[in-house]
Amino acid sequence: MLDWLDSRTGLITQAQNFLKEDVPGGASYWYVFGSATLFAMIIQIVTGIFLTFFYAPSAATAWESTRAIYANPFQHFVLSMHYWGSSAMIALVFLHLLQVLIWGAYKSPREIQWIVGVLLLIVTLVLGFTGYLLPWDMNAYFASQVALNMASSAPVAGPLIQHILQGGAVMGTATINRFFGLHVWLMPAMLVLLVGAHLAILRHNGPAGPAVDDPRPLKKGRFYPDQVFMDTVVSFGVFIVILLLAWFAPPFLDAKANPNVFFIPYPAWYFLSLFGLLNLVPHQFDLFATIVIPTAFIIILFAVPWLDRSISRTTGSRKGMMWGTAVVVAAVIGLSIFSQVSIMGKQAAAAQLAPPPPVASTSTSSSASSATVASTSSSPGARVFSQSCSACHGATGMGQPGAIPPLANNPFVTGPANAVIGVVLNGLHGAITVNGRSYNSMMPTWKGNLTNKQIAEVITYIRGSLGKNKASAVTTAQVAAHKP
Ligand code: HEC
Repeated sequence: MLDWLDSRTGLITQAQNFLKEDVPGGASYWYVFGSATLFAMIIQIVTGIFLTFFYAPSAATAWESTRAIYANPFQHFVLSMHYWGSSAMIALVFLHLLQVLIWGAYKSPREIQWIVGVLLLIVTLVLGFTGYLLPWDMNAYFASQVALNMASSAPVAGPLIQHILQGGAVMGTATINRFFGLHVWLMPAMLVLLVGAHLAILRHNGPAGPAVDDPRPLKKGRFYPDQVFMDTVVSFGVFIVILLLAWFAPPFLDAKANPNVFFIPYPAWYFLSLFGLLNLVPHQFDLFATIVIPTAFIIILFAVPWLDRSISRTTGSRKGMMWGTAVVVAAVIGLSIFSQVSIMGKQAAAAQLAPPPPVASTSTSSSASSATVASTSSSPGARVFSQSCSACHGATGMGQPGAIPPLANNPFVTGPANAVIGVVLNGLHGAITVNGRSYNSMMPTWKGNLTNKQIAEVITYIRGSLGKNKASAVTTAQVAAHKP
């Protein structure tokens, strides 16, 4: 049977040839980053296809369909895997790149493979960027707006690029469609083609192996089973880490994008350094942060095989390259930390200064937002509620039948304060019953996302102002003193 298949397709022989390949210098855990990246990519494709079954790309449905995904425990879990998988994939691409840089594996005859690799890095980052917008919540909207404004600052073509990406003068359904098309069709297609080319070239040149100047041939290791075993161990580890993160640290959905509300966005971690750069340079030099430095960085990256003129691949003979790499890595980490700190500072300042959400003033003209009137009383707890909780629990705390429990007229909410504090701090995951209806979904963790003060305010608000709720206020000290 196998012979028959092989004689007609050659698939078995090809697979055997593939596995029989030699690994110069022996198999090593240093070589696993490429295959681990490939594995993360496969997770992203599988979970991503699943999500397209439920996601509806338009300004009127993107956030609503994402919320429905959040409300279903299984779909929410797949979404969490997709979320953490993207981080894993980008982290692994960078580690792979770093390893190739340190080992000098980009040197002749592998220049083209290096270039394809840099293209893969770019495609992966574009995937991260376009995916970030799709939930269409406040953070997605405002983070993408910063990026689109960056693009528009490019000389000559900038405004045109922004207009094309945005699909018009303002962000809306057309923007979601452009990003969706890029995210689920164009970029994945390019990713798969480029990965194919990357691997085909790898087959042609063989693995680079360790960097040694000794002219004697290296001892040959086996790809199968030695390297395959190590690759599998690490990919499996990556899988477990993604599962654990998806389970214990699922992402959460902000309120639906509302361009009228002031909001300080938080970018994906892999774009933090770029945000930091933008914050650091004085405004008149913005062009450096948005265009000049990133473009120069990419060009230099492409040119690495030609910039490094040394004949030998050993690290000692490539001091310039090693120092350059170290400086860039340190700069990226430093900028990311700077950016993180400055965003947190701005968010804290904004929370104190925030004007009441303007939904109240527009609610008379828009029937859809009439339900939000209740949340616009000016108490700080109402503000936290409308920013962090109303997306799921509804503007008046009425919940969503079958998916999300009401907070209004809910005896748990007006019951012992300590239990409510616990749920809001740590989230909730499991079956509960409210007024005879059961729910089994996931309540996000707010510890770390809201300050203790905000948590006290919002609990005071939900206990005292939603529906017929009339229960005691909660103080910041009570939240701080909470014990499980
Ligand atoms: C992403 C959607 C979502 C957001 C945002 C959200 N919740 Fe929840 N919340 C839920 C879900 C789902 C449950 C039920 C969990 C379960 O069934 O296990 C829940 C449960 C609760 C409960 C317990 C209700 C009970 O009867 O046990 C409280 C209290 C609560 N949420 C308060 C809040 C507060 C306060 C905020 C804002 C700071 C908030 N929630 C934001 C989805 C959300």
